[in-house]
Amino acid sequence: MTKIIRTIASMKKFSAAQKRRGKKIGFVPTMGYLHAGHISLIKQAVKECDVVVASIFVNPTQFGPKEDLKKYPRDFKRDAKMLKKAGVDAIFYPDPKAMYPKGYKTYIYVRELGDVMCGKTRPGHFEGVATVVAKLFNIVMPDAAYFGKKDFQQQIIIKKMVADLNMDVKIVSLPTVREADGLAMSSRNTYLEPDERSNAAIINRSLLAAKKLIGSGVSDASKIKKAIAKLIATKRGIKIDYITIRDAKTFDEAAKIKGKVFIAIAAYVGRTRLIDNIEI
Ligand code: PAF
Repeated sequence: MTKIIRTIASMKKFSAAQKRRGKKIGFVPTMGYLHAGHISLIKQAVKECDVVVASIFVNPTQFGPKEDLKKYPRDFKRDAKMLKKAGVDAIFYPDPKAMYPKGYKTYIYVRELGDVMCGKTRPGHFEGVATVVAKLFNIVMPDAAYFGKKDFQQQIIIKKMVADLNMDVKIVSLPTVREADGLAMSSRNTYLEPDERSNAAIINRSLLAAKKLIGSGVSDASKIKKAIAKLIATKRGIKIDYITIRDAKTFDEAAKIKGKVFIAIAAYVGRTRLIDNIEI
């Protein structure tokens, strides 16, 4: 039986009871409109934990004033069915007014990491993410929490927050799940018109081409970024927000490929902003 929990008090009570019984709680925070990427996180949590909680909460504080909060796709019935099938024990589905009551004032800012890449284009976005994730951790009290690597910057920021604030949660990052043509799964893919949808696959293809270039010995990051931009430009209606190559450990922009790096892209396909990345 999958429990649907609407209030913060009952969620805390549920988790406290599990903890008293010595159960390991796995947690998958989501904004709903689930896809196979979310389900892969749930399945891993089910494998590794005694009890699995998923949250569905379209977090208003991570959307900018001109962003798609109202338009963000929602279908609780469909999501609940998928979560049940995947083996979730409890779905936490709180009311935004309970999460952010009138007079709410506290935010978490992870310096520097939250200011670059998506944080530069979407000021305040990662404060919203870090804040809601910290709140959810306090409410659900998980032993382990599962995040997808598609949101590469997000999982780095959450790991840093957990380390810096001494939170007792293990952060598990899992590989991006992709459509057959390589497009990273995202709830936002549902916004794409059919021609945009097929053009969007160039984002992943350009990352794979960059990996090949690096494999063939090209180490100049600007050359690699130019090659990515050139490939993306072969498709109409895609506007690049950023292409970045960074050291996977320090997160610093890399001029040369040395050691482990990641390449990340954010691009508008029509009006839909998509992100993807590859670790090399
Ligand atoms: O990745 C997401 O869906 C969201 O950013 C998260 C982690 C659920 C916080 O709202």
